Amino acid sequence: MISQNQKLGQPQNLPSIGLRPGLEGVPVTQSAICDIDGTKGELRYRGYPIAELAAQSSFLETTYLLIWGDLPNPQELRDFEKEVQMHRRVSFRVRDMMKCFPATGHPMDALQSSAASLGLFYSRRAIDNPKYVYDAVIRLIAKIPTMVAAFQLIRKGQDPIQPRDDLAYSANFLYMLTEREPDPLSARIFDRCLILHAEHSLNASTFSARVTASTLTDPYAVIASAVGTLAGPLHGGANEDVIKMLEEIGSPENAKSYLDNAILTKKKIMGFGHREYRVKDPRATILQGLAEELFARFGKDKMYDVAKALEQEAESRLGKKGIYPNVDFYSGLVYRKLGIPRDLYTPVFAISRVAGWLAHWREQLGANRIFRPSQIYTGEKSRKWKQADERSSTKSN
Ligand code: ACO
Repeated sequence: MISQNQKLGQPQNLPSIGLRPGLEGVPVTQSAICDIDGTKGELRYRGYPIAELAAQSSFLETTYLLIWGDLPNPQELRDFEKEVQMHRRVSFRVRDMMKCFPATGHPMDALQSSAASLGLFYSRRAIDNPKYVYDAVIRLIAKIPTMVAAFQLIRKGQDPIQPRDDLAYSANFLYMLTEREPDPLSARIFDRCLILHAEHSLNASTFSARVTASTLTDPYAVIASAVGTLAGPLHGGANEDVIKMLEEIGSPENAKSYLDNAILTKKKIMGFGHREYRVKDPRATILQGLAEELFARFGKDKMYDVAKALEQEAESRLGKKGIYPNVDFYSGLVYRKLGIPRDLYTPVFAISRVAGWLAHWREQLGANRIFRPSQIYTGEKSRKWKQADERSSTKSN
């Protein structure tokens, strides 16, 4: 599977390019997983439009598509669902370890640690063995939701509850989290959220996953590194900050003054802007529709009017720069209506994105070359060693 000989460029032939902070516009890999047209606002997984997947598919079916490249036939899907269902439980040792985490710690840190700990349980670095790869995929897809739900109960001082075999993937996660079986509409909307977040080409966390994968380390380390990257507020962590921001704005009438002040002070509007899109993120449009479906059934969240007022105000002020709502803008409102605590929004994002990270892990191994970019050195060229008593204070550095 790992073809070290399929080199993606030889150092001596590489043209020299200038500094590109954030690697903006620099292709660093080839990929057949996800395609984005940021000008038209189009997103496809393996060629299928995101709106069609979100309407027709299930999260596990989409996961299969992303990781193995094609939609499964009915038997393949049943087998995949069954395998995932059989591996949802986590070892009591993982649960006991999580009981030692501080209850005040962020659930993303808990998830990163527990995901990494799986590497201790399953034999390492057999990544050229297809069975090991398959088992790792199943385990990670199956166990990450269980670990997110377990930490939620543990930090409240309760014992985690076991997965229920009669519940499908998304319904089971909501059950493990809230201790209540969700109604079918909530479970389906949550499943559609997972589809929408499952993959998005070479974003920061996926790049992290590929860099880590390129060293040929184990998949649990790959996923743990990606979880750590997703946590940041410029990436997946923005969904939490959007709700904080909407609450700070408080009412639709305050949206204009909030925006004026943010623009004046060069403060970023959370949930707006994207390196790839110059129009509204297609996932934000679908998520807004999902939020409306939930509000129609269970009552409106008053922050929705604040969000719409902010989007409307921002259109004329930021739209000309190509800054529109991204996936994080409306997802928090959906999760809030589903009863998910705010600091679990990013872990929920991670549950879904594991599918994309694993697809990239497999693809990276298929044509691997270790990532090792260059830098432009700006430090001192050469310095003379000084004895300790000859040195001046470094406090001003
Ligand atoms: N609010 C206001 N202005 C913005 C925003 C925003 N959210 N995003 C970008 N801009 C402005 C910048 O101030 C800058 O303006 P300038 O050229 O006048 O200085 C210009 O747009 C370019 O901004 P950059 O930060 O250089 O754009 P970049 O492509 O590097 O950043 C990013 C993309 C990080 C997503 C950015 O838009 C941002 O910080 N958004 C807020 C955080 C957020 O919502 N993150 C989630 C992204 S989706 C995801 O990761 C799952």
